[in-house]
Amino acid sequence: MKTMSNSEIFLAAFAVCLLSSLVAGGATANKLPHFADAAALTPQPNFPDPLVMLDGHRVKSRAQWERERRPELKALFQHYMYGALPPRPSHVTAKLIAEHRDFLGGKATLRLLTLETGSAGAPRIDLMLVVPNQHRGPVPVFLTMNFCGNHALTADTRVPLTRGWLYDSCKGCTNNAATEAARGGQAQDWPLARIVERGYALASFCSSDVDSDRKDVSDGIYAWLANGDEAKNSPANRGSIAAWAWGYHRCVDYLVTELALDSRRIAAVGHSRNGKTALLAAAFDERIALAIPHQAGCGGTAPNRVAPALANPQGNGRPIAETIAVINKSFPHWFNAEFKKFNDAPERLPFDQNCLAALCAPRPVLFSNALEDQWANPNGQFAILQATSPVYRFLGVEGLDAKSVPPLRKLVDSRLGYYIREGKHSMTADDWEVFMNFADRHFAKKK
Ligand code: GCU
Repeated sequence: MKTMSNSEIFLAAFAVCLLSSLVAGGATANKLPHFADAAALTPQPNFPDPLVMLDGHRVKSRAQWERERRPELKALFQHYMYGALPPRPSHVTAKLIAEHRDFLGGKATLRLLTLETGSAGAPRIDLMLVVPNQHRGPVPVFLTMNFCGNHALTADTRVPLTRGWLYDSCKGCTNNAATEAARGGQAQDWPLARIVERGYALASFCSSDVDSDRKDVSDGIYAWLANGDEAKNSPANRGSIAAWAWGYHRCVDYLVTELALDSRRIAAVGHSRNGKTALLAAAFDERIALAIPHQAGCGGTAPNRVAPALANPQGNGRPIAETIAVINKSFPHWFNAEFKKFNDAPERLPFDQNCLAALCAPRPVLFSNALEDQWANPNGQFAILQATSPVYRFLGVEGLDAKSVPPLRKLVDSRLGYYIREGKHSMTADDWEVFMNFADRHFAKKK
């Protein structure tokens, strides 16, 4: 292990205490209203209208949208799909472990922090922050969650190896733990030098710091909250996506206090399951100014009501696009127990993912896709954006400025943005150029 220099030791001792919510007595309880059982809900074959309340009344004003429908939608998503987001802690402590001003050949400063969210045993999030040296003034930041650990984003040995459980499919990981060989395992997909060159900071944390991605083991925030009560920690009723979204929020608690960053220009980015999480995180936290769920698909940006031709093409039960029945079977821990009741009746859900994207309105959101990734249902995602757009227009801003799926590599950069390229399910350096083009357009106005 590397020994810390005196200045680093000083920095480590300098803990920044962030009074994030000032709630007396610890965490804020997340009380949800009572909703009808899944079987009692009226089937709606089309995407439910985000501007119609559960009781059938149409939303008539911006105030009603803000005060009544948004809270109702948030409660509905937590009740029927994601589970309750873990409570917001009364404070988050950001411990600066080290700061290196010579990162990326002197182009950036690397800050390594540990975010502590509660008493002993509570999840700690290792956050890696890369800030450009050459750009003066507060810069916008991409906040991302990664699958394989912060150390996979760069070969720089000063980034600590992730402590928690990791997939063995991550380069250099064996027995579900990172080894030295894991360093920089995904560096080619995270163009850090290019990101800082374009004037952005990047903050990243690993999902396993919050909840490891295992269907039969719950060892993260839910295990901690359950405090030994197994009934409160059932792997099939925990909702890892909600936990990970909570992780994004705790990082935001810190990022908004960081003077090198522009607190009004925080973008949440995530790939695949992390994209589902980035969208949920943005939907529930308006401090996130822009969201880029990349190839997020089912349970995120794609419809729950999958078109029959994609859900069951030859009547042989093997879908082209992922359905909720399939995702609930493969990844039961991502959603709560209630969601499983919709496996054979997605039309009973009182929302579709257009309602989740609508919770981001009027903030910019980009759904980005790949042609060969039909599993993530790129056409269905476009339909979701079309069904979200009326909410943006209702709030007086542009929505989706495209009538049909654009040609490959042509970014639709309206507030509801869409992009599709050739190729497979992956996040590449080229995708990052698109993310930055989208952010340039929307963040430029905020400077
Ligand atoms: C699986 C899963 C998807 C998910 C993806 C990923 O393919 O079915 O829903 O998005 O993994 O996270 O890579």
